[in-house]
Amino acid sequence: MQRVEKFLKDAEVYYLATVDGDQPRVRPFGTVHIFEGKLYIQTGKVKDVSKQIHKNPKVEICAFKNGEWLRVAGKLVEDDRREARQSMLDAYPSLQNMYSADDGNTEVFYFEDAVATFSSFTSAPETVKF
Ligand SMILES: Cc1cc2nc3c(=O)[nH]c(=O)nc-3n(C[C@H](O)[C@H](O)[C@H](O)COP(=O)(O)O)c2cc1C
Repeated sequence: MQRVEKFLKDAEVYYLATVDGDQPRVRPFGTVHIFEGKLYIQTGKVKDVSKQIHKNPKVEICAFKNGEWLRVAGKLVEDDRREARQSMLDAYPSLQNMYSADDGNTEVFYFEDAVATFSSFTSAPETVKF
């Protein structure tokens, strides 16, 4: 899981795909943080992406860096604890201009039943489950 977090942080941007009825939706994301042994991302409840995740928590993310790409497929589970939100905000001080742990908007999700696959054109795919 640490390797997944490092890859996503180093890539700086990953793309998060959600399901909206029968329409896939994808957008750039950047937040990734390990808290209590789980891999978290952050968003805002007002966003369509949040509404889509609450309706259908199956997501996939993809990032590319130095000839290697990573896909993580899994289910996102909201962690509604203040300490989980605060831990994310502590890891991303720049987010604190827009979000706070008690604003009723900030939310964090962790991956459950995740399958992460590292791929490249030059070596066999490697899979990590967490
Ligand atoms: C580089 C980059 C990183 C971003 N990271 C996040 C993020 O971690 N969480 C988030 O909610 N929005 C993030 N955004 C903004 C979302 O991409 C944007 O709000 C998007 O419209 C949300 O998807 P939606 O319109 O389907 O709700 C980021 C945008 C960029 C350009």
